[in-house]
Amino acid sequence: MAATYTRVGVIGAGVMGRGIAQVFAQAGARVALVDQSIAALEAAVSGIGETLDRAVSKDRISGQDAKETLARITPSQRLSSLAGQDLVIEAIVEDVTAKSEVLSEVAALAPLAVLASNTSSLRISDISSGISAENPVIGMHFFNPPQVMKLVEVIFLPTTPTQVRERVVATLQAAGKHPIVCADTPGFIVNRCARPFYGEAFAILEENTHSAAEIDAAMTAAGYRIGPFALIDLIGADVHLAATEGVATGFDNHPRYRVFDALRNAVNAGRLGRKSGSGFVTPSEVVAAPDEAAEIVQRIEVMLVNEAVTLWENSSLSRGDIDTAMMLGLNFPRGPFAMAVEIGAAQVRDTLARLHAAAPAALKSRYDPAPALDRLDAQ
Ligand SMILES: NC(=O)c1ccc[n+]([C@@H]2O[C@H](COP(=O)([O-])OP(=O)(O)OC[C@H]3O[C@@H](n4cnc5c(N)ncnc54)[C@H](O)[C@@H]3O)[C@@H](O)[C@H]2O)c1
Repeated sequence: MAATYTRVGVIGAGVMGRGIAQVFAQAGARVALVDQSIAALEAAVSGIGETLDRAVSKDRISGQDAKETLARITPSQRLSSLAGQDLVIEAIVEDVTAKSEVLSEVAALAPLAVLASNTSSLRISDISSGISAENPVIGMHFFNPPQVMKLVEVIFLPTTPTQVRERVVATLQAAGKHPIVCADTPGFIVNRCARPFYGEAFAILEENTHSAAEIDAAMTAAGYRIGPFALIDLIGADVHLAATEGVATGFDNHPRYRVFDALRNAVNAGRLGRKSGSGFVTPSEVVAAPDEAAEIVQRIEVMLVNEAVTLWENSSLSRGDIDTAMMLGLNFPRGPFAMAVEIGAAQVRDTLARLHAAAPAALKSRYDPAPALDRLDAQ
């Protein structure tokens, strides 16, 4: 197995950065945690301490481990503390210029360090432009909260040296993560393949036959831990809108990634979900799954299958990788290819054809079957 990176830097001590710092410190690395805000650094260190204390009280780690882990994290407001680190991950604002600038500064301080971005929606090739060719720039997309979620989507550029690829994967595995290497395409795997979970729910909502609560009830009755609208309320409609728009723009606003009016209207009206006290299903009410629950679930799952097949045919990912990513990243009860087997490729095609026929002209191509659906039967 390849050696691991043991001197890690994390820039941004917010929700993600503090969790990422904890992951590597728990794996034994010395972590320099940098944020421009002293308040963010203080909150991060005390937050990591509380998380470790909880792990001790649940007997997951020893008190000594917790103490040593925290001692391995050095908070600082200065980028210069990253000099000498061999892997630096940025988790600052989702802005390509800000990310590029901060990583360029790090490149000057740590000339050979691997520079990783935790971006959810930006292209790694865009972030890397202008950064010294000596420093490999990669994507390392953790899920929230990083110290709990096992999946990390890893994005290498064609120029990323083989030994860096091997070492990055080994480092994440040694930290207890499940890295899946994917291409530098919009939404990577999970944020892209999850679009229909929300999008088709909005398409159903727009038809005015079912409420958001009923659609959620149909999905939870089918084994999903949370329905699409409750999940949007949890994430925040504004954050969700930004992610949806990012993927839509990345695919030239293809109707498969349609940003539905109900989402924009909710954001414009300040109905952001839990954080604003009002959202699609917030405050929550208990609603029974409607009689048409099975149709709702099948419609959403057929769209999940079609998106996953579209990604599969245009990438070198295996079906197993995509299924694993969707289960680990979203806690789905099964991945889209397992759904395809259950539903049957013929039924997937029939449902898409029915939805295509019923859709308004502007949405018809949303329901075009992925050509590789035909290959599912053969394998
Ligand atoms: N929140 C999520 O669920 C999630 C999931 C996956 C990926 N991401 C991505 O991770 C990144 C961080 O997201 P977050 O939710 O942790 O944000 P956050 O707002 O909680 O934290 C960002 C931190 O970065 C600091 N910062 C900003 N610019 C800086 C700079 N130039 N130098 C030093 N520090 C700086 C801020 O002070 C802040 O503490 C974003 O790119 C986001 O898209 C977020």
